[in-house]
Amino acid sequence: MKSFVSLLAFPASSLAGTVLWSGIFNSSATVADFDDWSWSNQIEPWQWYIYGTGNTSEYLGLSTDFKNPADTSDAQGLRISIDGTSFWEGQTMERSELIPQTTADLGSGHLYYHFSLSTKTTNAPNASFEHQIAFFESHFTELQYGLASGASGSSDNTLRWNAGGETQWSVQLEAGNWYNFAYDIDFDAQTVGLWASNGSDPLTEVVSPVSASASSNSADWHVGELRLPNGGSNDAAEDWYWSGIYIEEAPITKEIGSGSSSSSSSSSADASSAASSVSSTSSSTSALPESTAEASSTSTTASAATTVTSTTAAVQTTAATVAPSVASSVTTSSVSTAAAAVTSAVAPSATIEVASTATASAAVLPTPTTATEVLDDIRALFSALISRSSGNHARDFARRG
Ligand SMILES: *[C@@H]1O[C@H](CO)[C@@H](O)[C@H](O)[C@H]1NC(C)=O
Ligand SMILES: *[C@@H]1O[C@H](CO)[C@@H](O)[C@H](O)[C@H]1NC(C)=O
Ligand SMILES: *[C@@H]1O[C@H](CO)[C@@H](O)[C@H](O)[C@H]1NC(C)=O
Ligand SMILES: *[C@@H]1O[C@H](CO)[C@@H](O)[C@H](O)[C@H]1NC(C)=O
Repeated sequence: MKSFVSLLAFPASSLAGTVLWSGIFNSSATVADFDDWSWSNQIEPWQWYIYGTGNTSEYLGLSTDFKNPADTSDAQGLRISIDGTSFWEGQTMERSELIPQTTADLGSGHLYYHFSLSTKTTNAPNASFEHQIAFFESHFTELQYGLASGASGSSDNTLRWNAGGETQWSVQLEAGNWYNFAYDIDFDAQTVGLWASNGSDPLTEVVSPVSASASSNSADWHVGELRLPNGGSNDAAEDWYWSGIYIEEAPITKEIGSGSSSSSSSSSADASSAASSVSSTSSSTSALPESTAEASSTSTTASAATTVTSTTAAVQTTAATVAPSVASSVTTSSVSTAAAAVTSAVAPSATIEVASTATASAAVLPTPTTATEVLDDIRALFSALISRSSGNHARDFARRG
């Protein structure tokens, strides 16, 4: 308990870097909160419009059981699921994706995009399909899981991190393990690296920054999963578990949750109560988000095309699995994520989100599905534009349930 007392006493200034945006969940958060967001009510911290035809609770769940138990900054973790109904806007891809809603500038300077990810044996993701996870609209960096579209074989249990059009790091996905990640994105230097750890271990740098076309309009980081149809069709639900989602300015916070480093002594009950106390001290000085209705359609199309032409060498590269050094005992205690200070006043533009399927693998071995997917994208984009011009956003559907 001692560590929690000191945790609570820490002022926000002891964070390693300033938290620009926080997607952590306190104990009061409910799934119904996600449905309160719409294009005409752009409340922070999450945009929720990329999902299938079912009710939100089919695709999202919140529970103390869904978080990394080592993470004491989150009171609850998030289940993001796809199933046979997850075809957004009639696309052939199954998608359930949240996007940060914020007035902060998430696309400048040197930032760390943090999240933890896990799966279970129940509703495990199907390794016969390519999954794009935690990706940006231009796909300059992302995680992927499963058989890459265009690759040979029938399944692939690899969870891999791609940047600059190549797989830079990979691991075999193990149900029940918590994978902690931070994308190290330097928008000025145009580089991206990866920090990672398992369970309660502090993050270590597993890939030094590589060159990448890093960009974000602050509303295009897709927290969730997009599954390509390359495995055929299979309606089985897939659950992915997420926690500790936040974005900070450099320097990086390496600790998971309370900063208790490798000793995950805290019970989850302690963790929850500590987290809700800490969360209540969060300060948010956000101005009302401006709702600008400019769609970045042309830039989306352009970046997808660029990705195709610039990644021709992709899949031939052997995935480099970089063994992380074992962190020796950390003596300084560093508070991580709980207090979010949203200080930037940059207004995001509302972007029409279109999934680019111009992945590295697709570029190497084009498959017939790719063209279909691109057409789906274009179709979705146009239908969104048409609805938008008539005053209703395409995804501003009538509230379900
Ligand atoms: C996590 O553990 C797996 C073995 O289960 C190992 O292969 C991997 O390198 C570890 N990852 C990190 C970032 O420590
Ligand atoms: C994954 O999907 C494929 C294609 O539908 C199917 O043949 C396979 O049985 C599924 N795998 C699992 C483990 O459910
Ligand atoms: C929980 O988080 C929500 C959304 O950030 C906030 O409005 C609410 O006040 C918080 N509740 C507690 C008990 O901290
Ligand atoms: C969505 O929720 C409503 C109200 O709870 C329910 O009537 C409806 O059947 C649900 N739809 C689906 C697809 O589950």
